[in-house]
Amino acid sequence: MTATAGGIAEMRRLAREWRAEARGVGLVPTMGALHDGHMSLVQAARDQSDRVVVSIFVNPIQFGPGEDYDRYPRTLEADLERCQAAGVDVVFLATAAEMYPPGYHTHVVVEDLTTGLCGAFRPGHFRGVATVVAKLLHIVAPQRAYFGEKDYQQLQVVRHLVADLNMDTEVVACPTVRESDGLALSSRNALLTPEARPRAPCLYRALCRARDLLRSGERSATALQSEMRESLERVSGVGVDYVAVVDSRTLERLDLVEGEAVALGAIRLAGVRLIDNLRISV
Ligand code: PAJ
Repeated sequence: MTATAGGIAEMRRLAREWRAEARGVGLVPTMGALHDGHMSLVQAARDQSDRVVVSIFVNPIQFGPGEDYDRYPRTLEADLERCQAAGVDVVFLATAAEMYPPGYHTHVVVEDLTTGLCGAFRPGHFRGVATVVAKLLHIVAPQRAYFGEKDYQQLQVVRHLVADLNMDTEVVACPTVRESDGLALSSRNALLTPEARPRAPCLYRALCRARDLLRSGERSATALQSEMRESLERVSGVGVDYVAVVDSRTLERLDLVEGEAVALGAIRLAGVRLIDNLRISV
């Protein structure tokens, strides 16, 4: 395995050669601090592609002022070891200087899908995500790119981006990997204090509660949302950004759960923002 030294030009050159191979290139875009959730994407890529590219780039333009860009976990050495052990062909280490040089002007905005949910609490976040994902997909031009369902809104945004801009890449969605207590793996979990950590699965439990209520006959999305919110507000130190029950494709809020829906939430626990979601259906 090599970590790219030559930046974008070298990444482009390698990917161009590899694309011609039978099963082509799989790209796993990440911000590093790799955990088993990321590695499940790498494994899926390994299974389906001849060459696996992992990008590691803490993308400054998807963080708002006052968000955790500066304290976002950075564990490059361990990340490279994990990639090596997992059979990754190249780790693309983008830099802000090369991705956004002076005079940079172009941003990608996926409309509608990005105004609600996390978009309402993190203005500009999905513009930053869509822009960097578009750039990475152009640089690597992989046959397949892997994204986690853990970031459900992001996954839908990326799907639209790729379809709307006619990109020649298949978006592959991978299921959420969890700790044994239900907490979804996230690089930000490393920021949780030992005191806060045992309370962190409250979000997953609230989502499971909504699923169980639906199974027992409660179809009202408002009722499910109220239940989730109340259960979260009972946990000390938790601030609820939002809880929602939405259509799994359009992300529009539902009145009644009829077909495929997703329950989602975002909370702040001891200064750390956690998100999670669960597919629920009748
Ligand atoms: P990051 O948070 O590092 O996540 C990289 C990828 O791993 C995303 O597709 C995310 O959904 C997936 N992932 C994270 N935790 C997961 C889990 N517990 N189970 C399964 N998959 C999981 O998401 C980003 O980076 C950035 O926004 C990025 C897309 C790289 C653009 O900068």
